[in-house]
Amino acid sequence: TLRVAILISGGGSNMMALADSMTGDHPARPCLVLSNDPDAGGLTRAQAMGIPVAAVDHRPFGRDRAAFEALMQTHLTDAGADIIALAGFMRVLTPNFVARHAGRMLNIHPSLLPKYKGLNTHARAIEAGDHEAGCSVHEVTPELDDGPILGQARVPVLPGDSAETLAARVLPMEHTLYPLVLRRFAQGDRSPVLLP
Ligand code: GAR
Repeated sequence: TLRVAILISGGGSNMMALADSMTGDHPARPCLVLSNDPDAGGLTRAQAMGIPVAAVDHRPFGRDRAAFEALMQTHLTDAGADIIALAGFMRVLTPNFVARHAGRMLNIHPSLLPKYKGLNTHARAIEAGDHEAGCSVHEVTPELDDGPILGQARVPVLPGDSAETLAARVLPMEHTLYPLVLRRFAQGDRSPVLLP
């Protein structure tokens, strides 16, 4: 059975969707939920689901990302993580850390990549007048929000949408797409999935 560490910074709704999916004949199980924010709501939720949790507050490390990542790495090693799933993890990872986990780290991003890497994706899609938006799951490579796309889900942008209403339409698609992609990834299938 493959062991999946889920990295979060916030509420952890994607974490919950992933963890809920890893039952029965699924080839993987959650081994750790790790947050850079000790107050992340997702930590309490993971704990309530019986998943081991840890937090490594990035703030005391200042600009020393390598030292922050070294401490995160000890938790990942202790947990025996085979796969790392970034799920609303809002820290940029160094090329060293990414290289160490090459081919076994996934991320979900709330845009139809390669559009709108970085932050404020929904506001930017609306501002651009896009008629569709969505989310992407991709393999993590050193460039931010880059790397081979493993799956995408599309939703319409509707007249009058705000970043909030669009996010509320995209998020449930994230909860469908990410577990589907993770299951295929754990089975060794990296061909992209397109939803709906
Ligand atoms: C999700 O929409 C995820 O796609 C996004 O943050 C949210 C986390 O929500 N990720 C990023 O913006 C990554 N740069 P969650 O904590 O409820 O899963």
